[in-house]
Amino acid sequence: MATTIPASPAKYHDKVVRQFTLMTVVWGIVGMTVGVLIAAQLMWPALNFDTPWLTYSRLRPLHTNAVIFAFGGSALIATSYWIVQRTCHTPLFAPKLAAFTFWGWQTVIVAAAITLPLGITQSKEYAELEWPIALLIAVVWVAYAIVFFGTIAIRRVKHIYVANWFYGAFIIAVAMLHIVNNAAIPVSMWKSYSVYPGVVDAMVQWWYGHNAVGFFLTAGFLGMMYYFVPKQAGRPVFSYRLSIVHFWALISIYMWAGPHHLHYTALPDWVQSLGMAFSLILFAPSWGGMINGIMTLSGAWHKLREDPILKFLIVSLSFYGMSTFEGPMMSIKTVNALSHYTDWTIGHVHSGALGWVAMISIGSLYALIPKLWGRSEMYSVPAINLHFWLSTIGVVLYAASMWVAGIMQGLMWRAVEDDGTLTYSFMEALNATYPYYAVRLLGGALFLSGMFIMAWNVWKTIAGQQAAQFTVAEARA
Ligand code: HEM
Ligand code: HEM
Repeated sequence: MATTIPASPAKYHDKVVRQFTLMTVVWGIVGMTVGVLIAAQLMWPALNFDTPWLTYSRLRPLHTNAVIFAFGGSALIATSYWIVQRTCHTPLFAPKLAAFTFWGWQTVIVAAAITLPLGITQSKEYAELEWPIALLIAVVWVAYAIVFFGTIAIRRVKHIYVANWFYGAFIIAVAMLHIVNNAAIPVSMWKSYSVYPGVVDAMVQWWYGHNAVGFFLTAGFLGMMYYFVPKQAGRPVFSYRLSIVHFWALISIYMWAGPHHLHYTALPDWVQSLGMAFSLILFAPSWGGMINGIMTLSGAWHKLREDPILKFLIVSLSFYGMSTFEGPMMSIKTVNALSHYTDWTIGHVHSGALGWVAMISIGSLYALIPKLWGRSEMYSVPAINLHFWLSTIGVVLYAASMWVAGIMQGLMWRAVEDDGTLTYSFMEALNATYPYYAVRLLGGALFLSGMFIMAWNVWKTIAGQQAAQFTVAEARA
């Protein structure tokens, strides 16, 4: 099987993997800190301190860009560079270009962190960055594609392991989505206007937005899953055949589901129904992939009891399953009539983003970091366990509070009296939401505190210190 590391590995280029790995932890902390801040602002608006660049509207896109592209992106690039070398039995193609992708990507992130709080934005969700930065993203992404596919081209094994298929689809799709959705006419250094008019703009934007979910937040992380779950479980993938079916079904269906973001809008009705139908079909490959990942553990379930890294990986797959059950359900027009604009969407987002994306990344990094720095294991295994519980409790509090809040809001907004007047004012619905905002804030803070523990553990692991009292054997005793 191509996942095995060759007996005498070639000299792999791991410096860039180490760099991206460290920045994943750093950007995770930054992005989630901003998340906690905006969660607190929703409870106490005064926390913007009457400062324009601390307002909710500017910090929210900063949060989404930092967690998706800086944290998620760095995790994806780090793991893809590690995996493609090991599964192709060859060092990275064009290592200097790989170094450029690191510095280029970090420049993009810093530029985002400066321009978004200044209010410089294209106002397209997840594609806020103005044209000079969008151009730099395109250049870095093409360089990334050259390094990744170049490495596949010079591979020393015939087979291309399935993880690389997922990473490859993620790289190609993101390039296409980014370039098409960012087509704009600049009118000044920091302002541009989309080339698409009206509803076409909305449709292109949500074709992009949904596939950002499908390819950035899903396909790449499935690549991570297909490498690290079998590795950590010490078992082959449950069904290699299913992984291939999973791949082709997922990438061909995702592209059509975007209109479910535009139900009951000026978009033609049949396009909305098409988006809904494809979203419902999407349930099948999503669960096929989840089952394939979880069943990889068959015969090794006992490892879940003692290996917190495996716990991260398997719980992340469970959240993947939950959010890909919930998503198709929310795409049904009548359900969307209730959920849209409410915190239910936010609950769905974070069960996917924290439960799936962040937890699969964290688990994979814990598996990767000791190898990257030549250590036998992480400095403290109990600290990983603590991190696991903080994350799990954090995401459950976050998602559950938002689900309840969302359904409550939807029901309050639509409640009418016999004479047709609204039963509740908007303020009444908002007031009823505050307790749930408090629970979400607590959940987010717990999740963030786990990231600080991770940073400490990574630091100690790299410093090479021995935690004699904190070995796996000790923890089991
Ligand atoms: C400590 C962890 C986190 C906290 C406290 C947090 C908090 C928040 C808050 C308060 C919002 C705005 C909700 C609203 O407008 O009503 C938000 C939006 C969002 N967050 Fe997070 N977040 C966290 C982690 C993450 C992570 C790790 C990701 C992605 C990998 C993520 C992705 C998003 C996205 C995509 C949105 C926009 C959702 C939408 O527009 O529907 N968040 N987050
Ligand atoms: C079968 C898979 C999925 C389907 C069919 C699906 C469907 C949906 C639907 C119907 C909405 C609400 C749209 C609205 O009312 O505005 C939504 C929102 C969202 N979903 Fe999913 N979802 C899926 C999986 C996921 C996963 C795994 C993630 C994250 C990793 C995710 C992230 C998001 C985000 C970020 C939004 C908010 C977009 C926005 O309005 O800014 N989804 N999804």
